[in-house]
Amino acid sequence: MPSRDPLLQAFLTSLAAALPAHAIGPEAAAAIGRIYDALRTPRACGHVAPRRLPVCRYLAEAVATARAGSPPVARVADAFAALEPSLAWAPRATGGPFASDNWPEGHANTTIVGPKGLEDRSDLAIGASLLAPHVRYPDHNHAPEEVYLVLSPGRFQHGESGWFEPGIGGTLYNRPNIRHAMASDDVPLLAIWCLWIGQPA
Ligand SMILES: [Fe+2]
Repeated sequence: MPSRDPLLQAFLTSLAAALPAHAIGPEAAAAIGRIYDALRTPRACGHVAPRRLPVCRYLAEAVATARAGSPPVARVADAFAALEPSLAWAPRATGGPFASDNWPEGHANTTIVGPKGLEDRSDLAIGASLLAPHVRYPDHNHAPEEVYLVLSPGRFQHGESGWFEPGIGGTLYNRPNIRHAMASDDVPLLAIWCLWIGQPA
């Protein structure tokens, strides 16, 4: 069995502790259970060429905000910051409706575990999204269910809901294929997302 990088394991452990720190619904809890059951079996390291985009200048501010949160969130921020120099940040491959004009250069995503991640696997994906201030991410949807851990101020919307702010350390659950979006206001938005993809048919 491949061994897992200690910095990556520390991040995953901190995330597992922070996700249920706030009230979390049964669907999110079940998804997290599936993801962490699968993570008990490490997979091979991916070959990731670290890459930052100009929007990553907002990372330090976002991480500092998270570090000032509750102890579980601060531990995620520390573990994420330790891992971040190894990550490859990239823009989303496709756009979508209602994105703000500054979205293309005002966002970046990175896959930590998952397809083409630091641990390359196809059954799940855990990664992060960063938005510069005053950026509206496009509406999008995907088949895997998704749980977010939000590390900063910022607004979210899914399905027919209005915009809501989970708060630092807050979570939200996106059922499969639900339309969803996020937006920052005066400060950068940083969020961790966890997708359960499942086994290929
Ligand atoms: Fe999503």
